[in-house]
Amino acid sequence: MTAQLHYTPEIARQTRPIYESLRHVIPEVEWGVHAPYIAAINKLKREMNAVLLVHNYQTPEIFHGVADYTGDSLGLARQAAETDADIIVQCGVHFMAETSKILCPDKTVLIPDLEAGCSLAASITGADVRLLKERFPGVPVVTYVNTSADVKAESDICCTSGNAVRIVESLGVDRVIFLPDNYLGRYVAAQTGVELILWHGTCEVHERFTGAELRDYRKRWEGIQVIAHPECPPDVLEEADFVGSTKGMIDWVGDHRPNRVVMITECSMSDNVAVEFPEVEFIRPCNLCPHMKRITLPNILRALETRTHEVHVAPETGARARRAVEAMLAVA
Ligand code: 13P
Ligand code: SF4
Repeated sequence: MTAQLHYTPEIARQTRPIYESLRHVIPEVEWGVHAPYIAAINKLKREMNAVLLVHNYQTPEIFHGVADYTGDSLGLARQAAETDADIIVQCGVHFMAETSKILCPDKTVLIPDLEAGCSLAASITGADVRLLKERFPGVPVVTYVNTSADVKAESDICCTSGNAVRIVESLGVDRVIFLPDNYLGRYVAAQTGVELILWHGTCEVHERFTGAELRDYRKRWEGIQVIAHPECPPDVLEEADFVGSTKGMIDWVGDHRPNRVVMITECSMSDNVAVEFPEVEFIRPCNLCPHMKRITLPNILRALETRTHEVHVAPETGARARRAVEAMLAVA
């Protein structure tokens, strides 16, 4: 459907300011490929009253070229709840698009690739949660947003990596079922002293990091600051100078302006942050999330042109899931 796109002098002129900021993460020779898509997407989204919610792990040409809002899972959920656009295009993974649909049942929510999943979301079903609730009656269920709508619908309250500690503390109980990220759960248990009944889910990207690797960075790169996402294994988090959500990590770099830093997380994020802080040296181990990388400029344009792929959540499931997501938004 997309007409042949050409890198015309007019598109070069229009997109020049964006390219200037991306110069040290995107080679000039690649710009002629991205720029026509960026111009077409930005035009079409205005005509359609659509917003693009872009996760911090998206590639720099998406993150800096076409986003209306960027952020971590919590920030994007907040933006979805507040937007008055007719259409939300979720540039992230499927659970993020479902969260937007849960919060905005009357809006059209599109995801450019339906296969953009998540190993955490795939690790647990609504039926699993029902069994856990039978086994531990009366124990509140806190569910990471990296889950399906069915799982959220069985939960008392959701959390993200940015607020998990606050959410668990807000319940004022000494025992919680915490699903499905085992490593995030262990981190939250250590921070709160609350007993957490855990699941065996892990993030296929963050579980690959090791404490030994971090110690090696410290040996090889003098003075390096090591900051990590709480989906990493415990030995990694023990080695880190700071642990936080993707937004927490970005804010930490902005506040501390280290000379040299390594972000122990998905690797596109370092490129996105390096654009904002060119004076900071980023050491970049490259662990890509294959699901996040399914989102591209061509399929974002196709999503707008064809209004696909629309994300649906059954109304009854959506209403129950919304209670858990809104309970989270009310706390933090
Ligand atoms: P954040 O909420 O920290 O952005 O994390 C989402 C995610 O998928 C991390 O892998
Ligand atoms: Fe899921 Fe991990 Fe990818 Fe985040 S990085 S979307 S948790 S698989």
